[in-house]
Amino acid sequence: MKKRLVSRILATAMAGVMAFSLPVMAEEATEDTAAEETTEANPELADKKVGVCIYQFADNFMTLFRTELENYLVEKGFSKDNIVIQDGANDQATQSNQIDAFIADGVDVLIINPVNSSSAATITDKVVDAGIPLVYINREPDASEEQRWADNDWDVTYVGCDARQSGTMQGELIADLGLDKIDMNGNGKVDYIMIEGDPENVDAQYRTEFSVKALEDAGLEVNCLDDQIGNWDQATAQQLVANSLSQNGDDIEVVFCNNDAMALGALQAIQAAGRTVNEDIYLVGVDALSEALEDVMAGTMTGTVFNDHFSQSHSAADAAINYLTGAGNEHYIGCDYVKVTGDNAQEILDMVK
Ligand code: GAL
Repeated sequence: MKKRLVSRILATAMAGVMAFSLPVMAEEATEDTAAEETTEANPELADKKVGVCIYQFADNFMTLFRTELENYLVEKGFSKDNIVIQDGANDQATQSNQIDAFIADGVDVLIINPVNSSSAATITDKVVDAGIPLVYINREPDASEEQRWADNDWDVTYVGCDARQSGTMQGELIADLGLDKIDMNGNGKVDYIMIEGDPENVDAQYRTEFSVKALEDAGLEVNCLDDQIGNWDQATAQQLVANSLSQNGDDIEVVFCNNDAMALGALQAIQAAGRTVNEDIYLVGVDALSEALEDVMAGTMTGTVFNDHFSQSHSAADAAINYLTGAGNEHYIGCDYVKVTGDNAQEILDMVK
């Protein structure tokens, strides 16, 4: 039910927002809608074993993702006992052992959120050798790795959103305020700090690059005062932003965080420094965690970007099912982000809660 609401919100958002829209996204949205229509549980899936590897359970967004993934797999006809979800604890060696154990156990399909995207080739080789179909989620392997799946016609795909879109939306949330509001120190520039996620991860790289690019594309001059690695983590970001505020003081006009967990940490530091979001500093994140949505509504966060864990987890499960039923999949299955401001935060919150 929630999924249908997502589609409606997405349609509204798509109509309003984006210069960013690429033809490929329209195609992907259609695929996603098609996947949504198959709602019946399939009795043939009841004895199929699914192995799921999550890079780290202690990650707010991936917790929403895996919870929804498990629920949806059960809804589709898998038995809860046949779905095993492992915590990679942010350690590739640990996760590789878990993958080996899943292979030894003879799982029918694997869904993997790699700790290191750069390990994807090694993971793919062993899973393909074992004859197990593979769905990567959330951390996209590089283009040459994805090309191998197509070239060899392997049952391997990636399900995720294009992080360039979320970065662009973050930049637009700020650019839309207009230079007069942003430029509180009057130097004619947008003075910002950037708190990045895991730098090995393409989501962090693209959000960092495209948020700033959106400001430039809007004709604004930018000035980066600080760029730090927060590894998607709230407490780390709080510390980093506290340090940066004490070094750069009132010159910081905008705080970009690659995700909401870090934006929540940034907000704690901003408030501790006696600054006020939307009055003397602006703050944006990505994910649309409930807490961040509450902040957007209260005006203590300028905006965020909804990272649609419903759509992504459902598409990942549907892709796994398509392999098991022999229907097969494209090697890339996309999903759209939604820009969140005070205008639609309540609507998104009603859906994610
Ligand atoms: C991102 C998400 C982050 C974090 C990361 C893990 O898409 O925005 O909060 O979960 O994935 O790879």
